[in-house]
Amino acid sequence: MDFDVERVELPANVAIASGIIRQSWPPSFPLCREDYLDWFFSFPSPLHPLGVLVYGEGHPVGFGALVPRRVRLAGQATAYVYLLTLISVLPSWRRHGVGLLLYKKLFALSAERSIPFLAFTEQGGPGENLLRRACSVHAMPHRELASHVGYAALTHSDNPGGQIGVRMTQDASELLTVLERRATDNAILDEADASGLSHWKACPLPHRVALFSHPAEGLLGGAILTRRRFAGSDGDGEKLVAERAILPGATPEALGALRYAAGQSWADGGRFSTVLSTNLGPVPPEIIRRGGFRRLPIGSYRVFVGANDPSCPFLSADQTDLNVS
Ligand SMILES: CC(C)(COP(=O)(O)OP(=O)(O)OC[C@H]1O[C@@H](n2cnc3c(N)ncnc32)[C@H](O)[C@@H]1OP(=O)(O)O)[C@@H](O)C(=O)NCCC(=O)NCCS
Repeated sequence: MDFDVERVELPANVAIASGIIRQSWPPSFPLCREDYLDWFFSFPSPLHPLGVLVYGEGHPVGFGALVPRRVRLAGQATAYVYLLTLISVLPSWRRHGVGLLLYKKLFALSAERSIPFLAFTEQGGPGENLLRRACSVHAMPHRELASHVGYAALTHSDNPGGQIGVRMTQDASELLTVLERRATDNAILDEADASGLSHWKACPLPHRVALFSHPAEGLLGGAILTRRRFAGSDGDGEKLVAERAILPGATPEALGALRYAAGQSWADGGRFSTVLSTNLGPVPPEIIRRGGFRRLPIGSYRVFVGANDPSCPFLSADQTDLNVS
């Protein structure tokens, strides 16, 4: 079967992308809203996001994207990577090599620009095999990083964080000083700057930022909490997600403060009894457990870094705190 592959501008082609994503992913996948994708593709960056469409019989049947994010590897200057993401093929067009074609083009675009990529695949999901096969078929140097694990915790209406106080804000740029406190070796760290963090103000999902402070030690950490709509077997419902949890030197008390922040009512009266996270950052599992978070059987992601140049220092990283979405 013959296919045409085309590079397209983003977010200009977000409507086509959203249509393909909506038909390709399970209904539980919350990232197909056009306004959300538009925002996701529009983080301030000197690089443009790149989209790839595959056409079969003249119609778009597959989509994938490279979305720039600012990062830093310990000991190196800040740099950009692409999130290689949203790989989607319409169900009736699967098993004809469209997925492999998408990767081929996306690898080539990232290699032409000498920008490494990070890719996330749901553990055990159909994307995992495909990405491994694509790296092998297209001889793409890559490395698998520590997986991002899905966790859930019960929220708290009293603060179990001891002396750690919680302050809510709408301004994610207040997280900048927390980002500066991370010191994790061999990690590709999300190095969003003030303009990147401020972009959260435009996020179309209901969200807020929680800041955790200790009276003597000052600001300890923070998290961006979003309300995401998931469609499930029990109907359409909202869940609370700790989208970015930045907890340098996290203690069980700091995670308690996160659960307390997650348990606060919203202006519309909404309140959540559980909070989900797919990325608590490089916090030791024992601290996570003592902080009241439990590993979920689903919602874990394998994380890959790839770079055309085998000597790229990113290929020696072990982990990243950059998020899948
Ligand atoms: C994962 C996904 C992108 C794969 O797309 P696809 O177009 O079917 O991918 P390919 O055709 O390149 O490869 C898929 C399988 O078809 C097989 N295949 C490819 N061409 C074939 C052909 N002509 N005849 C028979 N089988 C073929 C491949 O060997 C592969 O088999 P494997 O899964 O056993 O390794 C698609 O299933 C999808 O959109 N899923 C939902 C979203 C998702 O999970 N995305 C992954 C994000 S990480």
